[in-house]
Amino acid sequence: MAKQVLEIMVSFAPPAAGLSLSRDAFRRRSTTTVDDMIYRHILRPILFKFNGETAHHLAMIGLGIASVVPGCPRIMRSLMAPRSAVPVKACGVTFPNRLGVAAGWVKNGDALPAVWGLGFGFVEVGTVTAGAWGGNPKPRVHRLVRDEGMINRMGLPSQGWEPVRHRLEGRRPSMPVIVNVGKTASPDIHGDAAVADIVTTVRGMAPVADMLVLNLSCPNVTDGRNFENDADALTGLLTAVRAALAGAKVPLLVKLSPDMAAPDLQRIVDVSMACGVDGFVASNTTKSRDGLVQSELAAGLAGGLSGRPLRDRAVATVSAVRNRVGPAPLIIGCGGIFDGRDADMFMDAGANLLEGFTGFIFQGPLYCRQVIDTMRAG
Ligand SMILES: Cc1cc2nc3c(=O)[nH]c(=O)nc-3n(C[C@H](O)[C@H](O)[C@H](O)COP(=O)(O)O)c2cc1C
Repeated sequence: MAKQVLEIMVSFAPPAAGLSLSRDAFRRRSTTTVDDMIYRHILRPILFKFNGETAHHLAMIGLGIASVVPGCPRIMRSLMAPRSAVPVKACGVTFPNRLGVAAGWVKNGDALPAVWGLGFGFVEVGTVTAGAWGGNPKPRVHRLVRDEGMINRMGLPSQGWEPVRHRLEGRRPSMPVIVNVGKTASPDIHGDAAVADIVTTVRGMAPVADMLVLNLSCPNVTDGRNFENDADALTGLLTAVRAALAGAKVPLLVKLSPDMAAPDLQRIVDVSMACGVDGFVASNTTKSRDGLVQSELAAGLAGGLSGRPLRDRAVATVSAVRNRVGPAPLIIGCGGIFDGRDADMFMDAGANLLEGFTGFIFQGPLYCRQVIDTMRAG
């Protein structure tokens, strides 16, 4: 408690004479506000008493209520939006700032007006699948608090594309909505049926999506990843998806794993580019458990690791992809973004846009402002 009080006092104290903060450090610190302290020292400890999925469910209930209270999302946005946001144009779509909510946070398109109220530049809804699917047995989301990471093995639960499309046809937020599409996680769907399953969702969601992302890299389903390892299967899938999108002009991205060996990554990137894909999201969660403080706890948990321990792998993936594809294709950097310094690392590696999930859980409602306002380039 004494430590927490001290932290709060330090965060409000003016820079001491003779100990002037660098401009960067001051900007970084000046984003620390009362709201931020309330989240870190009151709300987060309460939320973290619940398991990851229950806490998320509670947050979604709160955001759902805020979404339907007249004027509430707008007031939230005026309080929480980054102050130094620079609009970004990519693939013909304009983003109010470059940081979005990564896939998995808003799986079924709920509460989007309040998510906009949190200041984000876009949201990636999904993974959306053709059929409704419950995912893996619970508990399936675990926090590694000391590592500022999470391990999840959700297994792509989805309500199916139809209710999600219906929601997106209703109240749309004033920011782009990217839709992340995957194969219904049933192991009974494979081969040509897997292609048809994904194409069904692509067709269903394209009319309400500013961009589409194909999630071929979820570490928690084995069968959906076959496309990642088989160039012919990937070519067949991307050709079918491109045909389904003919005339729709919706940019198409592929979400990559950070765990691929260099030749495998190059192959999937080359095949994607040859099939007319517009860009990539790098990256999904990792199967690696390297360098964790809580390694014993993590060793007993199956699933994909996200958050701080993922950052360097994800940055390396962005860098490898950018070197392979040149300057034009869009790359969305994702993995362990907690502040502006992390975000700058992704930008230096070649990302155009950024996304966060775990950083948002640990930093709270002012996450977007904290990242954007402490970046070099905004
Ligand atoms: C609980 C949880 C659920 C996720 N669900 C999805 C999903 O449905 N589809 C997807 O493409 N990525 C999913 N992800 C991965 C994130 O979109 C992101 O790629 C990854 O967490 C790395 O970003 P982060 O370190 O900022 O969390 C999920 C991540 C977490 C932690």
